[in-house]
Amino acid sequence: MKLHRLVRSWALSYTENRKYSPIGVWFHWIMAGLVLFQLGSGWLMSRYPVGGSKLATYELHSELGLSILLLALLRFGWRLFIPDPVNDADAPGWQSTAAHITQKLFYALFALLPLSGWAMWSAIQPVEPLRIAGLVSIPPMPFHTLSPAWQFQVLDWAESLHVLGVIGLALLVPLHVGAALKHHFWDRDDVVRGILPEIRDDETAPDHKQYTPRAG
Ligand code: HEM
Ligand code: HEM
Repeated sequence: MKLHRLVRSWALSYTENRKYSPIGVWFHWIMAGLVLFQLGSGWLMSRYPVGGSKLATYELHSELGLSILLLALLRFGWRLFIPDPVNDADAPGWQSTAAHITQKLFYALFALLPLSGWAMWSAIQPVEPLRIAGLVSIPPMPFHTLSPAWQFQVLDWAESLHVLGVIGLALLVPLHVGAALKHHFWDRDDVVRGILPEIRDDETAPDHKQYTPRAG
C-alpha cells in the first residue's frame, strides 16, 4: 500500500471514531501554545523600555510568529487531506455554526497577524534578517523601494491590522475555551476528548467512570 494511503487510513481510524488524529491534536496544541505565547510576548515587548531585551523579544516574537504562518498552512493542507471528525460539536444549531465561524476566523487571524507583523518588520529600514523559528531565512517584503513617507504609511497600516488581529484573538480565545469547557463540564459530550491526546481507556480499572451525557 502507498505511504499516503497508509497515513490516510491511520488518521481516518481516529476521525471516524469522532476524534482528531494525533497529528491534528498536536497541530492544535502546539499552535494554541504559540498563539498564547505570542499574545504575552507581544504585550510585554510593547511595554519594555527601549534596549537589548526589547530587541531580543521583538526578534523571538517575530520568528515564532512566522512559524505560526507556516504551521497554519501545513495544518490547512492536513485538513484538506483528512477532514475533521464529526462529533457532538456538529449537532445542528447556532452553537455549531458559531464554532465553525470561530474556527474560520482563527485561521484568518493565523494569516493576518504574521503577515501584518512581517510587513511591519519589512517597513523599518535597515531591515534586520529574520528567520522562521530561527532557522529558515525569510526575505523582507520589498518596501525598501518606497519613499520614507510611504514606508511610514505601510508601517502605520500594518500596525493597525496587527492590533486589530490581537483584539480579535483576545475576544475569540476566551469564547472558544469557554465553549469547550461548557461542552465538557455542562453538556458532558465528546467534543473536548476529541482534541485531547489519546489516553488509553482501561475498562478494567476499578475506578473507571463512564461519562453520561446530560439529558436534554
Ligand atoms: C499569530 C502571530 C502573532 C501574534 C498573536 C502577535 C501578537 C502581538 C501582540 C499582542 C502585540 C502587542 C500589541 C500592543 O499591545 O500594542 C504585537 C506587537 C508586535 N508584533 Fe506581533 N504577533 C504575531 C506575529 C508577529 C510577527 C510574525 C511579527 C513580525 C515578523 C510581529 C511583529 C510585531 C511587532 C513589530 C510588534 C510591535 C508593534 C508596536 O510596537 O506597536 N508579530 N504582536
Ligand atoms: C489560543 C488558544 C487556542 C486556539 C488559537 C485554538 C484554535 C482552534 C482551532 C483553529 C480549532 C479547529 C481545529 C483545528 O484546526 O485544529 C480548534 C478546535 C478545538 N479546540 Fe481549540 N484553540 C485554542 C485553545 C483551546 C483550549 C484551551 C481548549 C480546551 C479547553 C480548546 C478546545 C478545542 C476543541 C474541543 C476543539 C474541537 C472542536 C470540534 O471538534 O469541532 N482549544 N481550536
